[in-house]
Amino acid sequence: MSRISIHKLRELKARGQRFAMVTAYDYPSARLVEQAGIPVILVGDSLGSVILGYESTVPVTMDDIVYHTRAVVRGTERAIIVADMPFMSYQANADDAVRNAGRLLQEGGATAVKLEGGSHIAPLVHRMVESGIPVMGHLGLTPQSVNQFGGHKVQGKTPAAAARLINDARALEAAGAFAVVLETIPAPLARMVSERLSVPTIGIGAGPHCDAQVQVFHDMLGIYDDRRPLRHAKRYAVLGETIREAMRAYIQEVESGAFPTMEHAFEMDESTMAELAHA
Ligand code: KIV
Repeated sequence: MSRISIHKLRELKARGQRFAMVTAYDYPSARLVEQAGIPVILVGDSLGSVILGYESTVPVTMDDIVYHTRAVVRGTERAIIVADMPFMSYQANADDAVRNAGRLLQEGGATAVKLEGGSHIAPLVHRMVESGIPVMGHLGLTPQSVNQFGGHKVQGKTPAAAARLINDARALEAAGAFAVVLETIPAPLARMVSERLSVPTIGIGAGPHCDAQVQVFHDMLGIYDDRRPLRHAKRYAVLGETIREAMRAYIQEVESGAFPTMEHAFEMDESTMAELAHA
C-alpha cells in the first residue's frame, strides 16, 4: 500500500475539503490514528513535553525525533508522516539543516519535515525542496521561540505583525512549502492567510477558517490532568481517567486474589503432576 501524496493536500484545498492532522509519537498511537482515517500525522517536537516530560520543546534532539519517527512509520502504511525539525537542527547553518532534514527522511522514514519560521528561513526551505525534501512551514506562536515571545501569547495581533505573518506565509509558499501550520493567531488573520495561499493552512488555535486542523494526541485524548489544555485544544476523550480506573481495578483484584482465576492460567496433565509428586 502506498502513502498519500503531499500533492493530494493541495487538491483537497482546491475542492474545499478540510482534513484533520494529529500528532503521534510511537507505534500504538500511530496505528490507532491511521486506523481512524487520519491522513497526515505529525511527529511533533511536542513529544518533549508529552512523551519525555520536559518543560518545553527546546531539549528535544534530532536523535529523539528520528527514533520516534521510525516507530510511527512502522505503525502506518497510508498516512503522510511529517517529522518536526527540533530546536537548533536548522538554525545554525544551512548545510547542517539540509543534512538533518535528510536524516529524518533517510533514517526516520518520514515523508516530509516541518520547521518553524517565516521569510528568514524561506531560502532554506527552497534549498530543502530543491534537494527533494518536502517541507511544511509553521508560523504564529511557534513553540521553539516561546522564550522570545515572553510566553504563550496570541501572535499577529497588530497590523504590522499581521502583515508580517501574511508575507511570511507567502514567502514559505513561494519557497515550495506544501502546507503551513498557523498556531495561535486571530481567526480573521488565519482566514486571510488561507484565502491568499494555494497550499493548505493547518490551524491550531487559529479558528475555523483554515483548510485543516492539527491537535496534540495527548491533549485531545485527555491523557494528563495536570497539563491544562490550552484554549485551542478540545478534549474528545478523558483516557487518563479511564487508564487510572483500569489500574485501580487491577490493583484491587490482585490484592484481593480475584485476579487471576484459572480462566487466565494454564492446566497441567494429571500424569505430569503425578510424576512431580515424587520429585
Ligand atoms: O510539535 C507539535 O506538536 C506541533 C504542533 C503544535 C503543530 O508543532
